[in-house]
Amino acid sequence: MICENISISKDGKHLLFAGQDTVELAKKYGTPVYLLDEDRIRKKCRIYKAAFQKHFGEKAVPLYASKANCFKRMYEIMREEEMGIDVVSSGEIYTAIQAGFDLSKAYFHSNNKTDKDISYAMEHGIGYFVADNVEEVIAVEKEAERRGIKQKILLRLTPGIDPHTYEAISTGKVDSKFGSPIETGQAEEITVFTLKQAHIELMGFHCHVGSQVFEEDVFERAAVVMLKFVADMKEKYGFITPELDLGGGYGVRYVETDPYLDIETKVGQVAVAVKQACKEFGIEIPKIHMEPGRSIVADAGMVLYTVGTVKKIPGYKNYVSIDGGMTDSPRYALYKADYTCLLANKMDEANDFKASVVGRLCESGDIIQEDVMLPASVGRYDTLALCTAGAYHYSMSSNYNRLPKPPVIMLKGGNESYVAVKGETFEDVLRNDV
Ligand code: LLP
Repeated sequence: MICENISISKDGKHLLFAGQDTVELAKKYGTPVYLLDEDRIRKKCRIYKAAFQKHFGEKAVPLYASKANCFKRMYEIMREEEMGIDVVSSGEIYTAIQAGFDLSKAYFHSNNKTDKDISYAMEHGIGYFVADNVEEVIAVEKEAERRGIKQKILLRLTPGIDPHTYEAISTGKVDSKFGSPIETGQAEEITVFTLKQAHIELMGFHCHVGSQVFEEDVFERAAVVMLKFVADMKEKYGFITPELDLGGGYGVRYVETDPYLDIETKVGQVAVAVKQACKEFGIEIPKIHMEPGRSIVADAGMVLYTVGTVKKIPGYKNYVSIDGGMTDSPRYALYKADYTCLLANKMDEANDFKASVVGRLCESGDIIQEDVMLPASVGRYDTLALCTAGAYHYSMSSNYNRLPKPPVIMLKGGNESYVAVKGETFEDVLRNDV
């Protein structure tokens, strides 16, 4: 199985997730349904925290990139696990506040924060802005001056590194939509400009090279480029960088052929590169942050569907339609992302039937996965599980075709489950229509 929280019932028939029978869960909560393994989310937070403390010192705290999966209960878990968070909108900030999350541990990203966002975040005591560009620095300075405060910020820079992932989620190259490039001199310009602002405390730099990254030394190379910049800023302007945030991006296993990245090992490798570079460049080691999203929640998640129509077009193609689609699982439609699909109530049957698993939306691109192998008996009322669906599913869901969003069900302790986000009703879908 692609993840240790996926197994099969004793009689060999049913798929178990986090030790619980998925066919029973589908019956109990209906489908489509998002399942999340709370124990695994907590375990991942603890692995990250322990690795950070071991390699970067007691005070180092990983920041959960909440865009991966964001709702009130998730922020409560992050609060309980004493994680920091990365937020990207006033909506995420609002949700975190509702969960009682201490915003002084929040880093506010995005490439285009509006004046309203900036004011809202400051009003609620956001810890840090991660300023993407000079206009944001100006806007933060203006608002901080108005409020008579000194606001901590990091500057987002682009180290000029290609992480070799999907183009749409690659962000560290010089021509990226995000950040100020080091190569063009703009990173230096914005640093000098920021240091002159009276109401801003420059706390350091940030980079995020991409997401679903497996390539060996991407983070290490990014760290070295960033630390070289840190050293240059010290030499030229006497600026000692207190913090360096290396972003998120570790890849997770969606299919058997994906490698498994051991977080402890990966963080250790980054630490070696950081320490070596600091020694070589003659600088103090800044407080290091990373912002994992996917690698904390992805394999803690699964979507369950009920199979409807099975269409066979002889000599061409077979389709297995499910009762959800790109509205709840948009990653294939967007990136042609790989996934593992399992027929949860027929785990004892051979997978000898090739089909494309498709959604119910009125759009040909509404595909969950192409050329999947399923049991030949697949048909109406079967339960289909889409694995590794804890990241960028619920948080990217939509109401296209007026489909209500599915509920998020938390699983814990091998036998408990509870509703963390209620499924939408038709009334919810209509809520803002006037
Ligand atoms: N930090 C920053 C500044 C980011 O932009 C991101 C992701 C992360 C951290 C977390 O990256 P992670 O550890 O989750 O890879 N919707 C896409 C992924 C977009 C990622 C955006 N930024 C997908 O479904 O693959």
